[in-house]
Amino acid sequence: MTTVLLSGCSSDSDERETRSRTISEDVTNENADSTSENQIIEAPQEEESTLEEADVIINEDTVETKILIAYFTRADNVKQDENLDAVSSASINLEDSDYIGNMEIMADYVANRTGGDKFSIHTLELYSQNYRSTTDQAKEEQNNDARPELVDNLENIDDYDIIFLGYPNWWGTIPMPMYTFLEAYDFTGKTIIPFCSHEGSGLGSGVADIKELCPDATILDGLAIRGSKVKESEGEILEWIETLEIFE
Ligand SMILES: Cc1cc2nc3c(=O)[nH]c(=O)nc-3n(C[C@H](O)[C@H](O)[C@H](O)COP(=O)(O)O)c2cc1C
Repeated sequence: MTTVLLSGCSSDSDERETRSRTISEDVTNENADSTSENQIIEAPQEEESTLEEADVIINEDTVETKILIAYFTRADNVKQDENLDAVSSASINLEDSDYIGNMEIMADYVANRTGGDKFSIHTLELYSQNYRSTTDQAKEEQNNDARPELVDNLENIDDYDIIFLGYPNWWGTIPMPMYTFLEAYDFTGKTIIPFCSHEGSGLGSGVADIKELCPDATILDGLAIRGSKVKESEGEILEWIETLEIFE
């Protein structure tokens, strides 16, 4: 079980907590690697040989497909303390003294199945703890086509072939920090698999917007789970992953 903890940048301001992200490689999963089997069937040496009699050599070449699970969640982008009241903490779940957002719960389920590395997208500026203020702030960012600055660059994006991209539906699409994230890297040739949580709008225009931002990537069908159903969504997520046929 290996967990790599990378320190994040911190701003000069006292208000700003040191941000950190965890890339978890701690998923025990025998299905993390995909294996291809090349079967080479030797041609019969004698006329009377039949296919059934021919020697069969099976080469098992292990092809490693690296999977990244990048996601944005409000819980990782607000100050987490006891001031998070019932309203402000909407969609933020308290687990073992840790606040964990809906998208992280979904990301964990994806990681459990795929063995992928988790990466939580962090903005440099924290959002308000107050839910209503956050929705106002997010609306303003959307209206201004803002690109909120991020901390913690992902240095090894080239290592990954498949990227599960998790977003909470914010005003009908991906949060603006995810625009920043998707514009920061070259996703050419990669497969992006969106997944989202929401409170009624489903995937919204998120998938179309991701396609526009990453025209040279393959974007697979996404999965949307209502926020209140996220905790019990593991089975649905596992079934969805099977339909993607990424393990052959
Ligand atoms: C700024 C903001 C905007 C939102 N806009 C929508 C929306 O347009 N449609 C919707 O169904 N849910 C919307 N929601 C609800 C979130 O998508 C939902 O609570 C989600 O589960 C949050 O995931 P998280 O806990 O990982 O951040 C919004 C939430 C916030 C904070």
